[in-house]
Amino acid sequence: MDRRTFLAALGAIALKAWRWKAPETEPFFLAAPTLTGSYPYELPALPYPYEALEPAIDTQTMKVHHQGHHAAYVNTLNKALADLPAFQSLSLEELLANLEKIPQTHRTTIRNHGGGHWNHSFFWPILTPKPQEPSLALQKRISAEFGSWAAFRGQFLDAAARLFGSGWVWLVKTPSGKLQITTTPNQDNPLMPYAEIRGTPVLGIDVWEHAYYLKYQNRRVEYLSAVWNLLNWERVETLLG
Ligand SMILES: [Fe+2]
Repeated sequence: MDRRTFLAALGAIALKAWRWKAPETEPFFLAAPTLTGSYPYELPALPYPYEALEPAIDTQTMKVHHQGHHAAYVNTLNKALADLPAFQSLSLEELLANLEKIPQTHRTTIRNHGGGHWNHSFFWPILTPKPQEPSLALQKRISAEFGSWAAFRGQFLDAAARLFGSGWVWLVKTPSGKLQITTTPNQDNPLMPYAEIRGTPVLGIDVWEHAYYLKYQNRRVEYLSAVWNLLNWERVETLLG
């Protein structure tokens, strides 16, 4: 190898190294406050006992959902990130908001399992064993966007009922401050660049069959009505800011 070829090769290597580091230094779109810890991620404890949501959500469903499904999302996400040192220091929200920057070899795994970890970490505290009414201030704010509280409930649960296959229904605060109802397939969420409506989720319900099938089988609407009565409106109000 002559001097010129050697220098060209060195330049190519340096360029490659610079490109590899680029994701760490580029500004990231911060779509939401950090909800989960940092890499390596851990399965968060439920904020209530497994049996606390009976009879609306049965104990076995909660155990399988948390110890089985959610734990698997966390483990698979960690395995994928073990291969991507340049992305380990990012928050999960940053990773999900910038999926397009993740190498294609690992992008789908991070999308599915990172999404799964974030979505379930969001979901557990949005439920409460102590039924509560939304405050008048929250009802007023939401009614202003959807016409009435009843109209909001109807539209939200209808979107969930009509969602084909597995996914999530969300109430999202968009960057302009508007509230919108949207659904995402699989473990996608509104932080991701693929979402139809992007923004900060303030409410979300898991509409995967694994969330209700043991007790409700194919009666998704019955599950949705039961879950509605478990919603933690105080938390929704806090997230709304
Ligand atoms: Fe789930």
